[in-house]
Amino acid sequence: MNSLANDISGSTPHALPSLGVVLVAAGRGERLGAGAPKAFVELHGRALLEFGIGVVTSLPHTGHLVVVAPESHAALALEIVDQVLPQESPWEVSVVHGGRERHESVRFGLEALPESVETVLVHDAARPFASAELFERVLAEVVRTGDAVVPALPVVDTLKRVDEDGIVHETVDRATLVAVQTPQGFVRETLAAAHATAQIQRENDAPTDDAEVVQRAGARVRTIEGEQRAHKLTTPADLAILEHFLTENLLGREAAPAGSHGASL
Ligand code: CTP
Ligand code: MG
Repeated sequence: MNSLANDISGSTPHALPSLGVVLVAAGRGERLGAGAPKAFVELHGRALLEFGIGVVTSLPHTGHLVVVAPESHAALALEIVDQVLPQESPWEVSVVHGGRERHESVRFGLEALPESVETVLVHDAARPFASAELFERVLAEVVRTGDAVVPALPVVDTLKRVDEDGIVHETVDRATLVAVQTPQGFVRETLAAAHATAQIQRENDAPTDDAEVVQRAGARVRTIEGEQRAHKLTTPADLAILEHFLTENLLGREAAPAGSHGASL
């Protein structure tokens, strides 16, 4: 397979294996209860999906982005792509329908990537403010190690193990625990093979991220430092947190000197 990594010219700072990004936006958003899938909920008049497409297509690579949307919202997703993607963008963007579970949506997205894609980042549209810098760090670590790579933050709360009645049985040592985020990065073959295995079809035990999918298939997953702004919209309380990051970022942009690029949203 032709690989850009074979181009060792020092003048190509982004000589990387062909990149694909799967942006999953096909969930129902039941815990948020907004009456619309989360990726289409608006902040300051912009759907979360707009921010996600914006940050991915601002990465300094050529690549293929697949947006995985609910069937009911696929046309709207295409409209958003048209709005956000600059005419001269080197990114190719397509929209496909999602599945019932997140891992199915990811599989459909993977299947829509061209054969030439060797490295894949999977990202939740529900994390609209993950920075371009985080995408770059995940990607660089996949290229460096060949392992699956996930951003992670330390757990700050004291953790208890409880039973079905809510009775506490023990305090869990949080020193060895982390909370993981997206974008998560993979060698395409590893992720595609893992998604094709039977282990992830276990009844009532669907994997909630791709690190879990590849781990069930026996691959190694390593963590890198995550970031607060990659926070996920899950419940209504998260709206205030995202609002904070949006406002902070916009202010940062206004304060930036003319001609400079603020952090991309
Ligand atoms: N997702 C998806 N397809 C699914 C389920 C989830 O593409 N069948 C996506 C969501 O759109 C979201 C990300 O996976 O961007 C993380 O999932 P989650 O936070 O669980 O979102 P929802 O499933 O939409 O929310 P809920 O579980 O509250 O219904
Ligand atoms: Mg869900």
